[in-house]
Amino acid sequence: MSILRTEALVKRYGGILVTDSVSLDIRPGELHAIIGPNGAGKTTLINQLSGELASNAGKVWYDGVDVTALPIHARARSGLLRSYQITSIFEEFTVRENAVLAAIGAQEHGWRFWRPMLARAAQVKVADEVLATCGLAHRSAMPAAGLAYGERRQLELAMALAAQPKCLLLDEPMAGMSVQESGAVVQMLARLKGRYGILLIEHDMDAVYALADRITVLVYGKVLFSGTPDEIRRHPEVKAVYLGEEEAA
Ligand SMILES: Nc1ncnc2c1ncn2[C@@H]1O[C@H](COP(=O)(O)OP(=O)(O)O)[C@@H](O)[C@H]1O
Ligand SMILES: [Mg+2]
Repeated sequence: MSILRTEALVKRYGGILVTDSVSLDIRPGELHAIIGPNGAGKTTLINQLSGELASNAGKVWYDGVDVTALPIHARARSGLLRSYQITSIFEEFTVRENAVLAAIGAQEHGWRFWRPMLARAAQVKVADEVLATCGLAHRSAMPAAGLAYGERRQLELAMALAAQPKCLLLDEPMAGMSVQESGAVVQMLARLKGRYGILLIEHDMDAVYALADRITVLVYGKVLFSGTPDEIRRHPEVKAVYLGEEEAA
């Protein structure tokens, strides 16, 4: 049983196959990492999964439903979320208010702004929980504009979680972060593991080995290999094509 599954997914730009018949699956609660050289097609694949990009062929199944033809909003509403696309951060609102808004947005269509935000007990509870999970509880009362870069990215993730997803798509969530901030995100992902299906694209192999249940190696749009971290470490072709390149860099 998978929460997310692709079947021979294809994306083509002109004559170039950027996603070359990719079949993979994410089990409920699994953290599945996708690694591969720059230009391998990782971001393109995530865009096809979120619905941002239409596929030329193949299928995407989410939670037992064929969502291949569904637009991004419909996928997001049913719990297949890409972190930064959920909703934009309101700078002048507090961190907590932003999280509450994300929780409201997930549950209601057409916000009723005249109702005081923090009077919504159920959504405030969800907001406080996700902020604690993301290590932002101590920033709750601060306007979002005051957050550091890494904390902002954590707030985006908290807002994604407030929408109560079943599957998260994360494209290099640690990009541009300091060592300390990345460390905080790794710890947070370790806490999220098991509760959500997570597809994680990440370059930092230490983070990938620490977090992933399974790893898929993508090269020139094709799945080279899928396996456990141990299998990936031992796979000769993977070492040559990807890990060797990393070591040489
Ligand atoms: N809109 C586009 N038009 C043409 N080529 C594209 C477009 N988007 C991405 N590509 C190409 O697709 C390939 C994969 O890109 P991408 O998915 O961003 O790779 P990755 O995230 O693995 O670095 C690259 O060769 C890139 O140049
Ligand atoms: Mg990319």
